[in-house]
Amino acid sequence: LTESRLYQSNDKSPLQIFVRAKKKINDIYGEIEEYVHETTTFINALHAEAEIVDKAERELFESYVYKVAAIREVLQRDHMKVAFFGRTSNGKSSVINAMLREKILPSGIGHTTNCFCQVEGSNGGEAYLMKEGSDEKLNVVNIKQLANALCQEKLCESSLVRIFWPRERCSLLRDDVVFVDSPGVDVSANLDDWIDNHCLNADVFVLVLNAESTMTRAEKQFFHTVSQKLSKPNIFILNNRWDASANEPECQESELAKVKSQHTERCIDFLTKELKVSNEKEAAERVFFVSARETLQARIEEAKGNPPHMGAIAEGFQMRYFEFQDFERKFEECISQSAVKTKFQQHSSRGKSVSGDMKSMLDNIYERITIFRNLKQDQKNMLTERIQGTETQMMQVTREMKMKIHNMVEEVEEKVSKALNE
Ligand code: GTP
Ligand code: MG
Repeated sequence: LTESRLYQSNDKSPLQIFVRAKKKINDIYGEIEEYVHETTTFINALHAEAEIVDKAERELFESYVYKVAAIREVLQRDHMKVAFFGRTSNGKSSVINAMLREKILPSGIGHTTNCFCQVEGSNGGEAYLMKEGSDEKLNVVNIKQLANALCQEKLCESSLVRIFWPRERCSLLRDDVVFVDSPGVDVSANLDDWIDNHCLNADVFVLVLNAESTMTRAEKQFFHTVSQKLSKPNIFILNNRWDASANEPECQESELAKVKSQHTERCIDFLTKELKVSNEKEAAERVFFVSARETLQARIEEAKGNPPHMGAIAEGFQMRYFEFQDFERKFEECISQSAVKTKFQQHSSRGKSVSGDMKSMLDNIYERITIFRNLKQDQKNMLTERIQGTETQMMQVTREMKMKIHNMVEEVEEKVSKALNE
């Protein structure tokens, strides 16, 4: 029952927009591939049998086979990518863990993220690591070992470690969401490299702030550069550690509401007036006040069969938990729609142009075949006419010969009888 409920709720997930679109475009490309193969075999036969298609044309058809195969490969690997940025210790790794419902990424003291970590789904229940530039699968037995492996690695901060985690452990991984965790934006001087290497194909960015302080210059600068390199990036802002504000001993509820509205206003201004990536209404839907640590704890309790509030850190848990879920919903809607557009729009127009080009080439060949056939027919007709002419001629000659022979016979007869009489 639990499984079927999970299945139902997943099916309603906005991520299914992407999942279904991916299946559909893959199926269509499968058909295009079949069509391209069939056509190429046909064209090759035409080339071998008659001089209707030339070498260049045949090679052009073959080039479509490779083109379509290359697009299919990209399509099968396409996924939705979300990248997390923010100052050190704001809780980027914790937010990802909360979304994955498991403490997969190392977080906290002694577990500073020191390079880019990408978490993606693996098939067959396997968990392993892959370092940049290597195909070697480093087996991960448990999370503790993963944390140690990541901490021991002396990697360049802009390099990438890929963590493959069993798809069935998390619905987001199952539905092809890939998470990218980053070191703090305040610790790097190579932000341009970061953007070029890790951000250009991201569908959504999440800026994780610390709700206890204000946005720093490093955080702002990073997103200014991102929005210069990408047109209208999708940015969500999480004011994390919101539980800590509720824990402040002298903090009244009205005080908290004031702080919240100040932060909200600043975040909206940043998205609309500074970055100009969204309008007021959209921006208001992109700013959240959450507690990643608490959400993760609540989800771990839920997995054990306990009520989520057992993971609460401070008063007001329900609101923060609700806000995290609201963020996830809006994030899912945004990422699946954006990924369908950026990942599939181009492929579908290329698919259209490939099949359009092939159709016009085939039409052209068909026309040539028709002309060729008519020419053959004309030749055949001419031959038939000639044969018919010869036949009539022959008949006439035969008739004449017959007459001649007849006359000769008569003449001979006449001569013989005359001779006999004489
Ligand atoms: P770096 O990888 O060092 O850049 O840090 P990070 O942004 O990944 O932060 P991380 O998730 O490691 O969190 C830092 C510390 O803050 C950890 O001890 C977390 O448990 C704690 N933390 C994260 N989110 C919250 C939260 O919402 N509330 C509270 N109270 N603590 C949090
Ligand atoms: Mg981290």
